[in-house]
Amino acid sequence: MDTKILKIDTVEPQQSRIKEAARIVKSGGIVVFPTETVYGIGANAFDAKACANIFKAKGRPSDNPLIVTVCSLEQAEEIAEIPSQYIDTIKKLWPSPITFIVKAKAKFPKEVTAGLDTIAIRMPAHPVALSLIKEAGVPIAAPSANPSKKPTATSGSQCIKYFGGKVDCIIDSDEAFFGIESTILDLRTFTLLRPGPFTQEELKKVFGKEPTITKTTKGKQSEEIAISPGTKYAHYAPDTLLFLFEGKIGEMLDTIAQIENMPHFVFIGSSESCKLASEELGCSTIDLGKRSEPFKIAKNLYDSLIMLDSFKVKLGIIEAFDENGIGLAIMNRIRKASSHSSFSDSEGLLTLLIAEGLKS
Ligand code: TXA
Ligand code: MG
Repeated sequence: MDTKILKIDTVEPQQSRIKEAARIVKSGGIVVFPTETVYGIGANAFDAKACANIFKAKGRPSDNPLIVTVCSLEQAEEIAEIPSQYIDTIKKLWPSPITFIVKAKAKFPKEVTAGLDTIAIRMPAHPVALSLIKEAGVPIAAPSANPSKKPTATSGSQCIKYFGGKVDCIIDSDEAFFGIESTILDLRTFTLLRPGPFTQEELKKVFGKEPTITKTTKGKQSEEIAISPGTKYAHYAPDTLLFLFEGKIGEMLDTIAQIENMPHFVFIGSSESCKLASEELGCSTIDLGKRSEPFKIAKNLYDSLIMLDSFKVKLGIIEAFDENGIGLAIMNRIRKASSHSSFSDSEGLLTLLIAEGLKS
């Protein structure tokens, strides 16, 4: 398939190009577009065939429903039942990197809801996304732009690598501002299903109550029947094996030093930890940014996972971060990217290395 690449300015989107992309959406095509969180792969949310094509392009399991993006609260209220006690708060909040699970009002194709009677809705804080939805005149179903299980694309060039030749159009704008997917809050139970840039502390402040946080929120072992279906799948994983070290960096250096013939690995961590790892273990490193700038660490995370594969080693080791603020979202993604392979001492590391055939 021929993919049209449209360069569109983030701050002042060229209307003629927006119109062109909107025409593609209206005629049943797939358009990859930027949002403030990550790039999305979008289609008319009422077009079953177009939405089915999103699943095809992503290789996504069909029981994993899509987020529907809207350009106004009015549009959201046409398609979803937003509990009246939250309307004023949402009016103040939107557009922002937060998705709400509410009861669906409109009849969506099963490709969008996976047969649930709820819908995930979000109004992205991005001029290109908002103009595109407005011009298309329909809500746009838009999961994150990544082949299923792979790290999400946060730049136009990564979208072209992932989806060039597989979709009708890719809008190539600036890098996504946050680089990590939106927060998902189930408004029926006030449960934080997926942590994101809108932090749990901010949620408490604006809604005046604490969201429920579960093991799934933290990205620890998926629940038997996940409430948010996407949380039960392996996610964001690089091709390279990835282990998570749960502990302080000093302990990690000691732990690794104790392993005889430790296989080559790349360390992913904060600038401070990378410096220590490179000095003391002589390993290659991928620097996520300073510990004092956790939003930058979140923003660099997916790129670092994509970069890990370019080292052509068998193993990456990533360090853990505090779960305050955006840290909860960082750890949720890291736990999934490492498929829950974590260690906290040399015995644990040895067990993982043997299980993965990296050591006999
Ligand atoms: O930041 C974002 O939200 C990005 C940008 C493109 O908007 N989109 C995104 O979509 O992250 P996706 O499909 O990768 O993640 C949507 C998550 C999935 O885990 C899915 O299972 C969950 O939302 N979800 C969708 N509809 C749901 C529903 N009705 N109930 C519970 N979870 C739902
Ligand atoms: Mg996704």
